[in-house]
Amino acid sequence: MSASADVLGFPHVTAAAAADRLRTGLPAASVGVILGSGLGAVADHVVDHGGVAVSYGDIPHFPTSSVEGHKGRLVAGTVAGTNVLLMQGRVHRYEGYDAASVVFPVRVLHAMGVKTIIVTNAAGGLGDGYAAGDLMLIEDHLNLTGDNPLVGHNDARFGPRFPDMSEGYSRRLTGIAKEVGAARGLKLQQGVYAGMLGPSYETPAEIRMLRTMGAHAVGMSTVFEVIAASHLGMEVLGISCITNLAAGLSSQKLSHDEVKETATRVESAFSGLILDLLPRLA
Ligand code: HPA
Repeated sequence: MSASADVLGFPHVTAAAAADRLRTGLPAASVGVILGSGLGAVADHVVDHGGVAVSYGDIPHFPTSSVEGHKGRLVAGTVAGTNVLLMQGRVHRYEGYDAASVVFPVRVLHAMGVKTIIVTNAAGGLGDGYAAGDLMLIEDHLNLTGDNPLVGHNDARFGPRFPDMSEGYSRRLTGIAKEVGAARGLKLQQGVYAGMLGPSYETPAEIRMLRTMGAHAVGMSTVFEVIAASHLGMEVLGISCITNLAAGLSSQKLSHDEVKETATRVESAFSGLILDLLPRLA
């Protein structure tokens, strides 16, 4: 079997990274951030301080998101002297994009010089003592989507055929995030993120299964991006915003409105943490 011709590969990544819209006016950055559902406001702080924003639709081959709460633009700017690239919104496998398209932006950031990436998401909480509004440092993940962005021909320019995932989430960066969180007086949870395909939320039985499997948070993103980042040799910090208790753990029904509301409520704590972290990661 050969790889299909329309898979987004290395030439598409280089073309996107070299596009005029991305070269002009954007400072080179070694740190990138992917902002999940309702968490995009961090980038507004950067834009307000002289950042530049490019819509995903203006970048060749870049997938565009259909999810409410995702703005769909790449923002470049400087935070306390550190140049950063922030993705305000992402695409998901459940939108119909294949896994390679979902990780295309990570590969473009890498081609633009990004070596360290903060991957964030909104997630349901299922760890003991977890509450809506908590922030969780991701120490590891369970990829339960049944898919993987590295399926198909391996282009060695991205990385090896069988990449190691024993430290997908950097212990060094997690340690720095704990220090920064403590300095800000934030209580940070730390745990395992289960990545599901979605888009339906989990059933209570699935949540009981995930608890037995050792998960503390559940969501529909992140795992592909972190696999692709590991493949590329990038160092990853993962942060979940626990926007709700997972199915069956509270009397409330799950809704995207609740996810967005909680993300908005924790916006200042979340943004403060990210903005303080960025200069420590360069
Ligand atoms: N499950 C899956 N994805 C989510 C959830 C959830 O409870 N909350 C936010 N994203």
